[in-house]
Amino acid sequence: MAGIYIHIPFCKTKCHYCDFYKSTDFASRPDFLSALKLEIEARKSELNGEIIESIYFGGGTPSVLKAAEINRILEQIFSSYTVSGTAEITMECNPDDLTQDFLIALKSTAVNRLSIGTQSFNNQDLKNMNRRHNGQQAIAAVRLAQETGFSNISIDLIYGLPSQTLDAWHENVQQAIQLGVQHISAYHLTYHEGTVFYDYLKTGKIKELPDELSFDQFKLLKSELEKAGFEHYEISNFSLPGAYSRHNRAYWERKSYLGFGPSAHSFDLKTRRWNVSSLREYLKAFESNSTYWETEILSEQDQYNDYVITSLRTQWGIKDIYLKETFSRKFYTHFQSEIEPFIRSGHVRKENGAFLLNTEGLFISDKIMEQLLYVED
Ligand SMILES: C[S@@+](CC[C@H](N)C(=O)[O-])C[C@H]1O[C@@H](n2cnc3c(N)ncnc32)[C@H](O)[C@@H]1O
Ligand code: SF4
Repeated sequence: MAGIYIHIPFCKTKCHYCDFYKSTDFASRPDFLSALKLEIEARKSELNGEIIESIYFGGGTPSVLKAAEINRILEQIFSSYTVSGTAEITMECNPDDLTQDFLIALKSTAVNRLSIGTQSFNNQDLKNMNRRHNGQQAIAAVRLAQETGFSNISIDLIYGLPSQTLDAWHENVQQAIQLGVQHISAYHLTYHEGTVFYDYLKTGKIKELPDELSFDQFKLLKSELEKAGFEHYEISNFSLPGAYSRHNRAYWERKSYLGFGPSAHSFDLKTRRWNVSSLREYLKAFESNSTYWETEILSEQDQYNDYVITSLRTQWGIKDIYLKETFSRKFYTHFQSEIEPFIRSGHVRKENGAFLLNTEGLFISDKIMEQLLYVED
């Protein structure tokens, strides 16, 4: 079982918080599509015939492509790889691209799950983030997708925004629930170097939300969504029963995946590969038949660290027996001694042989992971 990720590196405008690789220059779009086709075909032997269970169009903004272009990419994948008949095929969409014509055309492709970047329903938040849609448009886009027949829809929300009150966040969460979607990803705002928000923060134009308020927002999110029947299955992800993102779950369960397009990552249990984060370099490499990626063979230490980072994030946690049987004794001993204080403080509990985070532990998971990682002196 494996997955495929395709990075569509175009955005019409740049949002103030985002550091995903993207370009606003659409002139090279035909060249990109040709190069992508070559990459898809060139790498067909890499998965040794493993069955593809999920395909994910991310970005950037996949919804800037025409449905016919998405279809062509999928046809290329179907002809080069063995894709399961029940594969989850997700496409990230920006609300302002979701017109009726586009959705009808998309419905006739094999895409069967949409991840719509609503971010917030509050117009001031959206303006501050430099989004191209308002709250009403975000709601209308989700409804239109539902009316067109998409029955597996996820929406993205961001909280911890500068000056976002608990009441305003509560309204957002209520609005999200009312939409009747199957899945909600809610991310705490991260300030990435190189983004407008990061510069605003450094120059004092905006202030980080106090930790206490951020934590209140997280608790509210969790309790309201659980009350509405959502399962909190990963730090930032909530699903109705059975509607987990199969693609993301495969990442956390350390299954193999291939990533196509600039900045896309690939993983085959033993090695990690990342394509160059530059559309220009990516295209140039195809012209000159040269390499456009780097690879790294994962050491045992990398594999231990990866396992800890990915598993701790989920409701299935870190399995004691897996740690013990998979890694050398020094990693197991390190883990046992570092996890102990968090069990004592109540941030972590052990249940049916797995280490799991409680609510506060989830909120401070980055700090906990830092302690659990094995770093050679
Ligand atoms: C690849 S991005 C965007 C997908 C799509 N282009 C859109 O804008 O809706 C996927 C999601 O990551 C989240 N995200 C991106 N940057 C973030 C940040 N700095 N902090 C928190 N969430 C972020 C947003 O919710 C976004 O929808
Ligand atoms: S959030 Fe989406 S639309 Fe905005 S810059 Fe990032 S990838 Fe582009």
